[in-house]
Amino acid sequence: MTAIGKPISRVDGNEKVTGKAKYAAEFNVPDLTYGYVVSSAIAKGKITNIDASDALSLDGVLKVFTYKNRPKLAWFDISYKDQDAPPGSPFRPLQDETIKYSGQPIALVVAETFEVARYAASLVRIEYKEDTHETDLEANLHRAREPKSGIASLLKPPPPKPRGDFETAYQDASAKTNGRYVHAAEHHNPMELFASTVVYETDSKKKPKLTIYDKTQGVTNSILYVSQVFNIPFKNLRVVSPYMGGGFGAGLRPQYQLFMATMAALELKRSVRVTLTRQQMFTFGHRPATVQNVALGALPDGTMNALYHDAYGETSQFEDYTEVVVNWGGMLYPPENVTMDYKLVPLDVYSPLDMRAPGGVTGMAALEVAMDELAYELGMDPLELRLKNYSDLDNNEKRPYSSKELRECFRQGAERFGWSKRSFEPRSMKKDHNLIGWGMATGIWDSNMLGARAEAALLVNGKLWVSSATAEIGTGTYTIMTQIAADTLGMPIEDVLFKLGDTDFPIAPISGGSWTAATVGSAVQAVCEEVGKSLLKLAKKMPGSPFKSAKWEDIEFVDKHLRLKKDPSAAVSLMTLVNLNGGKAVRETSGVFADVMKQKNFTRSAHAAAFVEVMVDEELGTVKVTRAVSAIAGGRILNPKTARSQILGGMVWGISKALHEESALDHTFGRFMNHSLAEYHVSVNADIHDLDVIFVEEHDDVVNKLGVKGLGEIGIVGMPAAVANAIFHATGKRVRDLPITLDKLL
Ligand code: MOS
Repeated sequence: MTAIGKPISRVDGNEKVTGKAKYAAEFNVPDLTYGYVVSSAIAKGKITNIDASDALSLDGVLKVFTYKNRPKLAWFDISYKDQDAPPGSPFRPLQDETIKYSGQPIALVVAETFEVARYAASLVRIEYKEDTHETDLEANLHRAREPKSGIASLLKPPPPKPRGDFETAYQDASAKTNGRYVHAAEHHNPMELFASTVVYETDSKKKPKLTIYDKTQGVTNSILYVSQVFNIPFKNLRVVSPYMGGGFGAGLRPQYQLFMATMAALELKRSVRVTLTRQQMFTFGHRPATVQNVALGALPDGTMNALYHDAYGETSQFEDYTEVVVNWGGMLYPPENVTMDYKLVPLDVYSPLDMRAPGGVTGMAALEVAMDELAYELGMDPLELRLKNYSDLDNNEKRPYSSKELRECFRQGAERFGWSKRSFEPRSMKKDHNLIGWGMATGIWDSNMLGARAEAALLVNGKLWVSSATAEIGTGTYTIMTQIAADTLGMPIEDVLFKLGDTDFPIAPISGGSWTAATVGSAVQAVCEEVGKSLLKLAKKMPGSPFKSAKWEDIEFVDKHLRLKKDPSAAVSLMTLVNLNGGKAVRETSGVFADVMKQKNFTRSAHAAAFVEVMVDEELGTVKVTRAVSAIAGGRILNPKTARSQILGGMVWGISKALHEESALDHTFGRFMNHSLAEYHVSVNADIHDLDVIFVEEHDDVVNKLGVKGLGEIGIVGMPAAVANAIFHATGKRVRDLPITLDKLL
């Protein structure tokens, strides 16, 4: 009867595959106008002249907005920060003549059609005075400095203070490894382009009233932004985003098309849509380029005694984007002598932005390759080394995890993969002209729960309507929330309608950090329980009610009935109960937060073990990941089907990060040059072969009542290192820089 734990297909699947699901740029209204953004051709300097006369002379061009004629907004003085803003001063489009990075939006052409706007944009002539820019992380490491701390440090703590004495321990170690790891920047590249459709209306007092269809991972974040920046009261704003064609972190912050479209709509008193181009998708946040150094030491039996991990990440000149790159090693592994360090290098680029497992996949891609190197220094099986140094404690905080079934991930993953049949020596598993290699790595990610609100209403027709202003970023939120609501009130999922992505619904946080299932799921469960409690009150009022003295703990909801646990024959249908409510729905709104008292003595994390087989063509250097197994300990699995899809997506991206993805900066221009899906390579179908996902059983009542940890990010974390380690096993070549393109193997 219960829906939770069942592999239920997406409740929104039909809408998505039939094209009924609408995305931000697909909501059409009469008299819509179209904005096209002009991007800066230089990375640093000043605009000395903008000549829009040719653009303006075209039929259908309504206006060309630049820093010179933009409206005066309070925001330009007070500096509003969005919900995912790192310390610093957020970029403000059209603020003045200053150019801070290549691709910076410097003008918006608005026209009656998209085609005219695009053509007119090409006629806007811009003159610049160029300054020297710095975009090369490796050439600027000497300028590295401590990150500024801010509210973001709550979820992204800086590295803990050193423990023990790394230097001495490392000297004493009998096996050691020391390496430098360089990762290129990456862009999220969701399929759907960033777009905002702003529908302009006026209220009874002739004040602007906007409905904004925005591509975002948080409608709440967008409405706060628009309200603050443009000084519009909430009651005259509504932000809607029922679907999103991929986010991966790119939609955690309001993107500049939202600013542009809103500004133009208010000024022109018309509805406006601004859609970015694929090239412009490379002109905002990205996973930062990083340089890392890892040194590990171990005693002859494999016991690690020394761990060093530092990281240098790029950031912009105006914000200190940070992520947790180095803390993981000190957490996972127990050596007594540990030093971890994290620094930023400000460059003339846009601020980096969270991208799937931000920092975690970066740091673990270095640390877990270093672990493999250490295993080979010791002459020890790489999995054996992990088990030898396995710890049930978070060694940074010296406290237990709320649950940690990583050992079981290793066991089940290794068994499914056939790890015991691996030969230790590199280049020992040749097949024709191909070298075969097997590699493994550990993954870890935070299991956070924030606070959220939700509304539930049992309608008089017996249907349950539930809503929260959360997002569907492709993960299956509609489906799992439907399952949770259905089970809480003992209803079939067909009778439940869950709605999201609308600021008219109760508030929810941005969907990121793998916290939506835990956070919004808990809110949905809680509000449905509130409805259940109201139903119990109604049941008590029935003449001769068997529930008169029943407490909440004494009852259950099964098969659309409220009944006594002790005596299931004492049952009343939900339909009967709601009809005792005077013809009204039984409606409740409530919110939940994490139980911090319960959680305070525990670290909460999801874990993974990734096993990968590669085939490397010895003459061509081409790498094929022929097989991969990920065993995941992620708490209770709400829906094995959507959960598996999440992990598969993470695994594919992990392979893609290991082998393909790289936003190539040409430092002459300070510009990302491969700004298209033709040249920014991602894994495609032909790159992906046999992928297998295992969920190990894990019970955890500390993370939240549902026992859910969140799966959005854990699937990617261990994969890049597992691929790199498999390549070493195949070829004997240790490649520490990502992506591992074939030139690095020849
Ligand atoms: Mo995720 S990078 O927090 O959307």
